[in-house]
Amino acid sequence: MKKRLEQLKQDFIDLVGKVTDRDALEALKSEFLGRHGKLSAAMKEMAGLVESERKVIGELANDVKKTIEEAYGEAVGKASKASRASMAQSEWIDVTQPALGSMPRGHLHPVTQVREDLENLFTSMGFAVLDGPELESDYYNFTALNIPPTHPARDIQDTFYVAGHPGTVMRTHTSPVQIRGMREFGVPLRMIAPGRCFRNEATDVRHEHTFHQIEGVVVDRGISFAHMKGVLEAVAHSLYGKDTKIRLRPKFYPFVEPGVNGEVTCYLCTGKGCRLCKKSGWLEIFGAGMVHPNVLKEGGVDPDVYSGFAFGFGLTRLVMLKYGIDDIRHLESGDLRFLKQF
Ligand code: DAH
Repeated sequence: MKKRLEQLKQDFIDLVGKVTDRDALEALKSEFLGRHGKLSAAMKEMAGLVESERKVIGELANDVKKTIEEAYGEAVGKASKASRASMAQSEWIDVTQPALGSMPRGHLHPVTQVREDLENLFTSMGFAVLDGPELESDYYNFTALNIPPTHPARDIQDTFYVAGHPGTVMRTHTSPVQIRGMREFGVPLRMIAPGRCFRNEATDVRHEHTFHQIEGVVVDRGISFAHMKGVLEAVAHSLYGKDTKIRLRPKFYPFVEPGVNGEVTCYLCTGKGCRLCKKSGWLEIFGAGMVHPNVLKEGGVDPDVYSGFAFGFGLTRLVMLKYGIDDIRHLESGDLRFLKQF
């Protein structure tokens, strides 16, 4: 009996050394110490022993039980340490890695798409693409463009003034980049300047405080109205197809003389008159003209030697026409339900 108990203890110790898995350890323990396990089977035989022997064997059995429990506890400790180490090996994550798959890819804003198309067209015609500040000086936005402080043209381009920055305005158009371009690069000059503009508007479906324009200016010796018409026609053809016609009608802008209001035949009805063009057959999309001598002077260019033309497209308007968008406010809303359609 004694021998049998000693053997039991030894068997457990031998087996427990070979098992590393926690479930298997648990199973091994109940195989030895469980209610129907090996130790209780041995103990059942104790019933036939005499009193004195029973006491000795009982103590031995307790000792065996304790040893098995200790060996088990030790093995469990070792097993969980090992499993933590292997988890760290096999399940580590790179926290600096972008969350693959969980971040859907976006796409370019419709204004950006049309802007890039026009930039490609103009660069193919040798124009440089310039940038200018959105917070612009009053001087560049108005005065240098032949709109002195008391000029009524300032009223129709009311904008936002930034506290603590006297003499600056959120630019009301991209035209100030004409002056910046002339000053920085001199003549001859062929440039466009796309960008955001701002006005203090009572917003509605056609008016927004933030919108986009593309400015253009060409200055060289002998530049004429015909050059201007040629370039604007090329733009119209690229936007709406070869059959598109343009119409230039006189309009006052302080920075050009003569100035024109530019229209293209409606691409939807090809000039017959429809809902889009309000039955007129024409879509108004740009302003243009021959650069005013005062503006050339402000740009550091001699108006007696050089001449030029300038134009300003309503980029936001082009996008609205292209996609049939009936409310300008969608474009700056950041509403994904709207943006996902483009
Ligand atoms: N800056 C004008 C506006 O915002 C648009 C414009 C008209 C630009 C005529 C020009 C131009 O360069 O020649 O209404």
